[in-house]
Amino acid sequence: MSVTTGLAVWPGGDGFEHVGGALRAMVAGGAGFLGSHLCERLLADGYDVVCVDNLSTGLAENIRHVLDQDSFTFRNTDVVQPFDLAGEVDLVVYLASPASPADHLRMPIETSRAGSEGTRTLLELALHKKARFVLASTSEVYGDPAVHPQPESYWGNINPVGPRAVYVEAKRFSEALVTAYRKHLRG
Ligand SMILES: NC(=O)c1ccc[n+]([C@@H]2O[C@H](COP(=O)([O-])OP(=O)(O)OC[C@H]3O[C@@H](n4cnc5c(N)ncnc54)[C@H](O)[C@@H]3O)[C@@H](O)[C@H]2O)c1
Repeated sequence: MSVTTGLAVWPGGDGFEHVGGALRAMVAGGAGFLGSHLCERLLADGYDVVCVDNLSTGLAENIRHVLDQDSFTFRNTDVVQPFDLAGEVDLVVYLASPASPADHLRMPIETSRAGSEGTRTLLELALHKKARFVLASTSEVYGDPAVHPQPESYWGNINPVGPRAVYVEAKRFSEALVTAYRKHLRG
């Protein structure tokens, strides 16, 4: 079996192939704008999909059309708190964060906790399940950039106490934490 998505191509026989079963992806933030489309795509590509979302900025409406699919499961959970998920997981995609400026201003603590504690929760889960991990970061990590466009070698110009810092600094911490876990995670 070979599963192809926009994310990756995983050939069978490398440990990702499930005997008699589909690959299983967990999409944290799967009821949001990007997450709901990703859930759709993964389902279309033959994955079993577990959508984990606390519906803080996402909408049940975004996933209503896939709820009756056997290969789709929705779990209303806040990823800031550690939680258990029974069964194997091959891929963890971490999208769970308020993303719009209006949401950061309305939920500054939730935003910073999603990026920090939530990232750790999901990394630990990925480690435990021996799953691949994909983080959605943002170009906001460059702050108010002095260089355009920003190459990977540019580290940014960030106000750590500005109104958007809860989002920007949390995403920067996410990137640092993923980097710290990287050598322990499935490549
Ligand atoms: N949309 C963009 O243009 C864009 C650009 C760059 C990065 N991103 C990143 O992509 C991701 C998704 O963005 P989006 O535009 O789909 O946002 P969105 O707000 O539509 O989706 C985020 C989802 O995460 C859920 N969520 C938030 N906190 C949670 C928590 N603690 N536990 C469980 N679920 C939680 C929300 O309910 C929502 O469904 C975000 O991490 C965002 O930072 C988005």
